[in-house]
Amino acid sequence: MDIEKILNKKILNRSDLIYLMKIRSAEDIEKIFKKAYEIKLKNIGNKVYYRGLIEIGNKCIKNCLYCGIRRDNKNIEIFEMTKKQILKSARWIYENGFASIALQSGERQDKEFVDFIEDVIVGIKKISNNKLGITLSLGEQTYETYKKWFDAGAHRYLLRIESSNKIIYNSLHPHDPLHNHNTRIECLKDLRKVGYQVGTGVMIGLPGQTTEDLVDDILFYEKMDIDMIGMGPYILHDETPMGKEFKEKVLSVDKRVELGLKMIALTRIYLKDVNIAATTALQGLDPMGREKGLKAGANILMPTATLEEHKSKYQLYNDKPGIFDSAIESKEYLDKSVKNIGDEIIYNNWGDSPHFKKKCLK
Ligand code: 5AD
Ligand code: SF4
Repeated sequence: MDIEKILNKKILNRSDLIYLMKIRSAEDIEKIFKKAYEIKLKNIGNKVYYRGLIEIGNKCIKNCLYCGIRRDNKNIEIFEMTKKQILKSARWIYENGFASIALQSGERQDKEFVDFIEDVIVGIKKISNNKLGITLSLGEQTYETYKKWFDAGAHRYLLRIESSNKIIYNSLHPHDPLHNHNTRIECLKDLRKVGYQVGTGVMIGLPGQTTEDLVDDILFYEKMDIDMIGMGPYILHDETPMGKEFKEKVLSVDKRVELGLKMIALTRIYLKDVNIAATTALQGLDPMGREKGLKAGANILMPTATLEEHKSKYQLYNDKPGIFDSAIESKEYLDKSVKNIGDEIIYNNWGDSPHFKKKCLK
């Protein structure tokens, strides 16, 4: 079957996706991106929404084998933003017309942290007259904690599954009850039950990951009825077990970028109306990664608004981009590059997932 025929099918199946994922010729890959952009225009328009991302702390109870802020990496200086600092960043984000804020940190489940976050959410709502939309990316929590934060005013939650393949997931994490694939799936279900717009995502180009695994990740998004997707290439971090083990063995940068963009495009083509982020990790491997991501069907950007003095301490992977830019530089840079590719930035609008909105109307 030829590529045009597949791309013009109303509904693609698993074998179609695998076929497209395996395509190598640059000309045909371009056709996939073009189709994905067309579908984005039809379902979302040429609109790009910002989430102002604040990394509020790098303390983490987990020990994921790929991540630079894992518990056992003693080579990082621990930081925790105070409520005052977070609200200051939030105000900056609000005043600059970003309608949504995303709070991210290493994982903590202690009561002090849970209460702190609740307090911060209430504070953000207060300083913005209830106008800032709040996305959380704070890892696995109990149903009660998710509910507490939702009731305080957060309305979206990102929790990456990292890989829908349990065997791969296990190869990326220590084998103990704290790192459990089923728990993560249960958390995604809890988030849905509480009422959040639910986001997930995977790392792309992981050791041992096949084309079929990546396609199954897209089918996992569908099965879990996911509203927002944030995924990006795997990048080595020198101070991690995987960073050391796979130093010379990871896929080439070009290949990981290509796969990352294909994942965005095929997710757009297959799921149509979800929010998809062009992530910082993509830009980490290709300076034009985020722009290419938008061209391949993404519609969300998450510029980092983390305080200057903390940016360098939130290194999940080597050479994380933007950490030396001031927040304002990042914003101006992004504004320009989005316009360059023909998309339009929408300010003062939450930019909720159309997929989620449709469910609410049902
Ligand atoms: N490369 C790419 N992405 C990473 N993350 C953590 N470490 C890395 C890495 N080395 C991603 C994970 C996690 C998110 C916060 O950052 O997907 O869920
Ligand atoms: Fe902690 Fe998340 Fe990094 Fe895992 S990926 S070590 S949970 S910050």
